[in-house]
Amino acid sequence: MTAEKAGFDHFMLKEVHEQPKAYRDTMRGRISDDGRSVAMPELKMTAEQLKGINRVHIVACGTALHAGLVGKNVIESLVRIPVETDVASEYRYRSPIITPETLVIVVSQSGETADTLAALREAQRCGARVLAITNVVGSSVAREADDVIITLAGPEIAVASTKAYSSQLIAFFLFGAFWAQTLGTKSEAQVAQVLAAMEALPEQVEKILAQAELLKEVAESISHHSSLFFIGRGVDYAVAMEGSLKLKEISYIHSEAYAAGELKHGTLALIEEGTPVIALLSQEDLYEKMLSNIKETKARGADVLGILNEGHEAEISKSVDRYFAIPRTLPLLTPALSVIPLQLISYYASLALGHDVDKPRNLAKSVTVE
Ligand code: G6P
Repeated sequence: MTAEKAGFDHFMLKEVHEQPKAYRDTMRGRISDDGRSVAMPELKMTAEQLKGINRVHIVACGTALHAGLVGKNVIESLVRIPVETDVASEYRYRSPIITPETLVIVVSQSGETADTLAALREAQRCGARVLAITNVVGSSVAREADDVIITLAGPEIAVASTKAYSSQLIAFFLFGAFWAQTLGTKSEAQVAQVLAAMEALPEQVEKILAQAELLKEVAESISHHSSLFFIGRGVDYAVAMEGSLKLKEISYIHSEAYAAGELKHGTLALIEEGTPVIALLSQEDLYEKMLSNIKETKARGADVLGILNEGHEAEISKSVDRYFAIPRTLPLLTPALSVIPLQLISYYASLALGHDVDKPRNLAKSVTVE
């Protein structure tokens, strides 16, 4: 068992540390040597078919759904086609509007989640083309989808998904860039800029991982609380949801993710002296708004950890109690970095509480019943 964990205490920690490799493997061969274009030879859909799509539904469960929320941001930004995201267990019961011009993207680490598979079948029955993003070649989802993008995260053992999630983000970045390049919604120079920033991500993750220990203390202090909040705006809100789910899954501490601007409409009532708040600050154009939301929580006694971009420490540190800086990348790509400290906080909080990190109570790695 120890050998399989490659010297790490838990599979989860090992998998967190495998993310730079997972990013590199998922990008390998898909970005051209000159870094100017993306090739996705695995896609059977033609450029004409891709050009004919006028709406996208992203359907998944759990962590994969959270990757889909980031995917929505990626596709809408790069391709300017409207994207809806849906919980797979809800999708087919709400008569979704699916036409032959709809691309349904299902995201599933295992490729075996019953709800996701049922959504895929419903989409195909209604005439949509289905693209699957999955980590398992030969899985049910991979076999039944019309097109498949395989993430090369390698086997994920820990129930709490880490490297599979972040590799799904890489798949969305690649597909978004590929689609933008096919439609010409972004210039060649803009696509090249995205690809260059993507290629820098593995090293940037390594830099974050080298500072993992810094997050231990925060996690330990969080572990004494019964409830906390993750807040963010824009794509940071999507990452906040994943951070909150990760914490709940393995530490059993109640937490909620909130769009920072929405706090004042109710949830602010729950903030009291010492309530931990983790504020994501990766979107620099939203800093001013975020700082005013942080102020609202601090005025009620919140203890705020800011996850911010390097270079902004001086500007933000006065407004938060603690901060952790992540390397700078394009605003679109920040989830691939900002999720790493959140994974580590959950891991260390679970450890501090003495829980079974890799096999949390009540949960299964893959849920094959509806
Ligand atoms: C289970 C796991 C989650 C996972 C979800 C979807 O609930 O515990 O970690 O996100 O299933 O799994 P999938 O294999 O479809 O990504």
